[in-house]
Amino acid sequence: MSLVILTGAGVSAESGLGTFRDQDGLWTQYDLGEVATPQGYARNPALVHEFYNARRANLLTSVPNAAHEALVKLNGRATLITQNVDDLHERAGSTNVIHMHGELMQALCANCGHRWTAPPAMTTATPCPACGQHTARPDVVWFGEMPYHMDRIENLLDQCETFVAIGTSGNVYPAAGFVEWARAAGARAVEINLEPSDVARSFDEVILGPATETVPAWVDAILSA
Ligand code: OAD
Repeated sequence: MSLVILTGAGVSAESGLGTFRDQDGLWTQYDLGEVATPQGYARNPALVHEFYNARRANLLTSVPNAAHEALVKLNGRATLITQNVDDLHERAGSTNVIHMHGELMQALCANCGHRWTAPPAMTTATPCPACGQHTARPDVVWFGEMPYHMDRIENLLDQCETFVAIGTSGNVYPAAGFVEWARAAGARAVEINLEPSDVARSFDEVILGPATETVPAWVDAILSA
């Protein structure tokens, strides 16, 4: 069975990482245009660093939850495409993870494109180890930028037999459209979320509840089928 799993902020919510669009979500507290766009970074890089430094500090004190841990049992059977910039899938032990929106723990030089492990706190004075310019940014994909690994993802969706979306609101494209790509390839689609997403009607099955309960139960069902 070719199994492709898309994860979003809901899978990490019970680890204490905020989601974006729920009540109290990050985009209710911060202006997305100021902290998650290339234009915002050009206007005020210090504010952008402050936002992602806070996210990184939160991540460093968080641990994977039962949903991340359950997905590890699918190593060798599934590919995880995550919109999350946290590293909780990897810390739980998942081996096949594609970070389509980049990684919080990585730094990217806006001048030369060099990548390196992010310091816990990045500032406008952080030098790029390759070119020496003070143009470090978090290696995360901002609105208006192209998500990473799209060729690989398109291939996976073309060959997918089962597509599962976990903890994502279906607001942000292209990820929100993956269900339609997979279904066009003949896949069965399952949504696992706290509440129905904006694209829930595209799925064959919708399983509702907190990820730490629904995901372990679903993984066990897959493994015993
Ligand atoms: P959202 O915040 O948009 O959606 C989170 C989803 O998780 C919602 O549908 C919630 O109902 C669900 N949820 C919340 N708690 C949950 C729980 N305990 N168990 C299961 N589900 C739960 O987050 P994403 O869909 O991941 O991109 O957002 C997509 C992208 O928008 C992010 O990658 C980020 C953001 O702006 C960029 O920054 C480029």
